[in-house]
Amino acid sequence: MNQDLKAYLATCQTRVEAALTQRLPAENILPNKLHQAMRYSVLNGGKRMRPMLTYATGSVLGISPDALDAVACAVECIHVYSLIHDDLPAMDDDDLRRGKPTCHVAFDEATAILAGDGLQTLAFELLAHDASIQVSAQNRLQMITSLARASGSLGMVGGQAIDLESVGRMLTLPELENMHIHKTGALIRASVILATLAKEGVDEEAVKRLDNYAKCIGLSFQVKDDILDEESDTATLGKTQGKDKDNNKPTYPALLGLSGAKQKAQELHEKAIENLAYFGTQADLLRNLSLYIIQRDH
Ligand code: IPE
Ligand code: IPE
Ligand code: MG
Ligand code: MG
Ligand code: MG
Repeated sequence: MNQDLKAYLATCQTRVEAALTQRLPAENILPNKLHQAMRYSVLNGGKRMRPMLTYATGSVLGISPDALDAVACAVECIHVYSLIHDDLPAMDDDDLRRGKPTCHVAFDEATAILAGDGLQTLAFELLAHDASIQVSAQNRLQMITSLARASGSLGMVGGQAIDLESVGRMLTLPELENMHIHKTGALIRASVILATLAKEGVDEEAVKRLDNYAKCIGLSFQVKDDILDEESDTATLGKTQGKDKDNNKPTYPALLGLSGAKQKAQELHEKAIENLAYFGTQADLLRNLSLYIIQRDH
């Protein structure tokens, strides 16, 4: 990995983990088990790609990381809630996540459902109320609307519904793309868009370019996730390798073959960075991030 990106990644991870540690209810606050489960699932070494995208978008627009902590926490809370529910027996039925037993295995199913619910609502409370966000009420409201749309039935949750309906079916390429854009792309896009709202008056053209960039990497992220499920191993992934095949999921490698899927990821990366020309070298972090998304090993 590019050394600048590696250092940046580490800084963002430390930063968002401190911010999350501070904002999640402590384990000794009632109901203890619920708060333990929320902290267990959040504070356990995810890559923090979405927070990093929020901070990196901020750096292109000259927004200080201090003004983005709550936004970064909010997108990560939604993401972790989606993972907890994705792993439930009723969905992908996985027992390993981030190298540890999944939430419903470490606790129980009801607690896992509630931990997801608690994280989802915490995300919106942070956007509505957290003092680190220093913009007008109007921008805050736009943040809340964007995150709600990205995560709801017309966004991520809708994508998850399509994913479950598609088990055992061979989707067409446009159908598969539509599923991935929703289940994974929408939240990645929101991680970028929310950062553009953390400052007043960001110019429309910049927002449009960043949004187009985010659409491409949102899709390439899930294409790569599908590739890794096929060709990586459980220890590296921290989740059970080969589950997509076991669960009969339609994936990019299933439809295009591994080399076709890799080519698709490469094309999406190239399309993503075309949108960054507008920002010059200021956007190098975002360029490197897009490359990292398709080259990562977990
Ligand atoms: C996995 O997301 C689920 C998808 C949406 C593809 P990540 O690969 O970002 O998982 P963590 O957060 O690093 O564990
Ligand atoms: C998960 O997709 C997407 C969401 C959680 C919204 P996957 O089911 O492919 O994610 P992993 O592979 O379990 O991390
Ligand atoms: Mg799934
Ligand atoms: Mg899954
Ligand atoms: Mg997967």
